[in-house]
Amino acid sequence: MNTQQLNAIASALVAPGKGILAADESSGTIKKRFDSINIESTEANRQAYRQMLFTTQGVGEFVSGVILFDETIRQMADDGRPFVDVLKSQGAISGIKVDAGAKPLANSPDEKITEGLDGLRDRLNEYISLGAKFTKWRAVITIGDGIPSDYCIRANAEALARYAALSQEAGLVPIVEPEVLMDGNHTIERCYDVTERTLHVVFDALHYHHVSLEGMLLKPNMVISGNACSTQAAPEEVAEQTVRCFMRTVPAAVPGIVFLSGGQSNEQATANLNAMNAMAEKHPWQLSFSYGRALQDPPLKTWLGQAGNVEKAQKAFHHRAKCNSAARDGSYSDAMERELVGVG
Ligand code: 13P
Repeated sequence: MNTQQLNAIASALVAPGKGILAADESSGTIKKRFDSINIESTEANRQAYRQMLFTTQGVGEFVSGVILFDETIRQMADDGRPFVDVLKSQGAISGIKVDAGAKPLANSPDEKITEGLDGLRDRLNEYISLGAKFTKWRAVITIGDGIPSDYCIRANAEALARYAALSQEAGLVPIVEPEVLMDGNHTIERCYDVTERTLHVVFDALHYHHVSLEGMLLKPNMVISGNACSTQAAPEEVAEQTVRCFMRTVPAAVPGIVFLSGGQSNEQATANLNAMNAMAEKHPWQLSFSYGRALQDPPLKTWLGQAGNVEKAQKAFHHRAKCNSAARDGSYSDAMERELVGVG
């Protein structure tokens, strides 16, 4: 596949008013989410939960693509249609998480390195046969005393670049996700410094691996205060610092930046994205979302594993997706939050 074809997929994923649903929780992560609502993480419950999300009527108006996990891309709806086809009927493109998780980094055990490169070329070809058009790989950068080290940033950037090159070789659009965690009491300035350092090294590695910038998407953290920091930056400051950081590090050839929510509250994640898109300053990329928790928390907490709650849970998901769609052009407002009546 050539750069133009990859670019067409990447551009469709960041089409105006649309963003990505990250529903690619690994077995360990979905268990944590289900524990929070006292539901056992069985294959049947995972299928029922994802079916509830994917069959939400009209959600394709706001969701351009969905990132799936290995188990999910092989699953079907109750009517026998593969989930990939269900999503296609919504107008949403299917993607796949291809990393094998973040593990302790040898010689720096407080830091993480993402595994999953071995055998990746073959796995990518299988995912294509299952209908995937794009991929995701998440690297984790931790802020703490004396960390992140240059060693950790470089090792993760190298893996991200190798993954991105292999994805493009296979004809899949890579979503490159270097996540600087918001865990800790660090300030927004510290997050800015670490994010800037990380993105410089990531784009340097992407360049040396001949990754086509036009045929990829970046999935970063926002520049934000640590979740235990005593001063929490308001959306306007998050927007200003985030856009400034990216203007200095992310080439204009990248079609879109699709943020992760990373533990922000639903409203915070929407308000921060909205503030970026409401800024008078022009930026060269689409600024969009690829949220997991910030899209799924309300439907998860409404669903509670009960078939009788599916309709209400879908309304909650639809509403959250609509709010984030509005944040794509800066038109989200508090009033929108109150539109959802009789749910919850
Ligand atoms: P969150 O939005 O919950 O951070 O999830 C996004 C994601 O895909 C993390 O890899």
